[in-house]
Amino acid sequence: MHERHTPSEPDVLDAPTETDVLVVGSGIAGCATALAAAREGADVLLVTKATRPEETTTHWAQGGVAIARSDPESFEQDVLAASAATADPEAVAVLVDESREAVEDVLVETLEVPFDRVADESDSAGFDYAREAAHSEERILHVDASTGKHVRGPFLNHLDAHERVTLREDTAALDLIADEGRVHGAVVETDGETAPVFAGATVLATGGIGALYERSTNPATATGDGIAMAALAGADVEDVAYVQFHPTAYAGEDPFLVSEAVRGEGALLWNGDGERFMPDYHEDAELAPRDVVARAVADERERTGEVALDVGPVEFAGEFPGLAAKCEARGVDWREGIPVEPSEHFLCGGIAVDDRGRTDLDRLFAVGECARTGVHGANRLASTSLLEGLVWGLRAGESAADESATGLDHDRVDAPDCRDSDPDLPEGFAREKFVRLRRVMDDRVGLRRTPEGLERATAVLRRLKGEVDAYTRTRTSRSLYELRNASVVALLVAREAMAAEPVGCHALADAEEVTANASD
Ligand code: SIN
Repeated sequence: MHERHTPSEPDVLDAPTETDVLVVGSGIAGCATALAAAREGADVLLVTKATRPEETTTHWAQGGVAIARSDPESFEQDVLAASAATADPEAVAVLVDESREAVEDVLVETLEVPFDRVADESDSAGFDYAREAAHSEERILHVDASTGKHVRGPFLNHLDAHERVTLREDTAALDLIADEGRVHGAVVETDGETAPVFAGATVLATGGIGALYERSTNPATATGDGIAMAALAGADVEDVAYVQFHPTAYAGEDPFLVSEAVRGEGALLWNGDGERFMPDYHEDAELAPRDVVARAVADERERTGEVALDVGPVEFAGEFPGLAAKCEARGVDWREGIPVEPSEHFLCGGIAVDDRGRTDLDRLFAVGECARTGVHGANRLASTSLLEGLVWGLRAGESAADESATGLDHDRVDAPDCRDSDPDLPEGFAREKFVRLRRVMDDRVGLRRTPEGLERATAVLRRLKGEVDAYTRTRTSRSLYELRNASVVALLVAREAMAAEPVGCHALADAEEVTANASD
């Protein structure tokens, strides 16, 4: 059932229901898009379901932002090597070529992010460049290990003060308004009421899929919204089999990320038998690519019961005060080692986009973790996600503004039916289904996968999605749509994993046997 757009519709957003550029999401990628589009002279409406900074993944980012220094080629080589040569070299070249200018323009000059500096550094800006796993040199700008929160807050404040940008928090996009391969905006919901927002260009910047796993370094709001909305509208989604697990998340209750920067400074991994094991797995030991370290940590935990990060070689409390405080808040004496285990961290694939963030649907763009630019291939190099969000956000914002200048005739378009929230939705329906979904993802679509497990997961997820769809046909609520989005994306991940090349983040147990059998 569709209803025709009526421009006189009540304005539940207290904001224009027609705009040049609609941006969905308020992490670094969405903010960079809004900034670039506004700089081009477009009117921008940025909607975000977040009400607190902690509800965006950018706020949680610890490590930092890698930038090209005197040897950009080595940066490109590191990105490609970490991806096991599966990244797209042209996309990587864009990332590296534009890294310094984008960071200086937006993060240093516009937002004045207080990156750590040293007095005697050869770099003219005096940055305190850090090193993380699989980087061949120190090239990461950071604010101790809490870089994200120093980016996201100032970025939102800057946009809030911008005359061309309207910001609406606690506002979720539920569905795209799509017509014959072209996107005209989205249906949004705020405070239980829904309304269509029509736009000359629509940009999805909704982040990743941490909420699909029990243990994640991301906020519970990461329900794969943009990916699901784009897929349901017919956009191409690629490389979602490649879900990256971070090797060192705190292994106890209320997990938190222990940044790779700590290993970059010299911290070591020990197993339950008191052995340092990483040299047996890779010549770069603790600084091997993330997928290698994550699998080694999982194996050693299984074999010896636990793995601890020994921060003895590091000035831990001095250099990582935020992490030391987190340990202390959980009663962990970090001097004794921090118990760690792999946790879901980043989705390498997503909505397929070109080098300007364009999807294969006209007037639809995607940026940040929900997008698949080709930069990460099957495994992402540390401290390239904020950078990718920034570089592609700026590019997409410019292009979205340009395209929106050629107006669209929205009056001919039907918006999806906008029901307001259903107060009779059974309490706990979404919560209970989410528990089931996470159990399947953890058990069968996590760090360790087998062909049989993926097949079984696909069958279970298909059933679960069917149950959820039956509800969304007649009811609307934000939690129900988040569940729908999570079930759509979970199924995409499991299905793609059944066919994807086992490389980087996607490994199959007994992969050699599988290959040997296949060649029989
Ligand atoms: C970390 O600080 O270890 C995470 C950095 C990243 O994922 O890029």
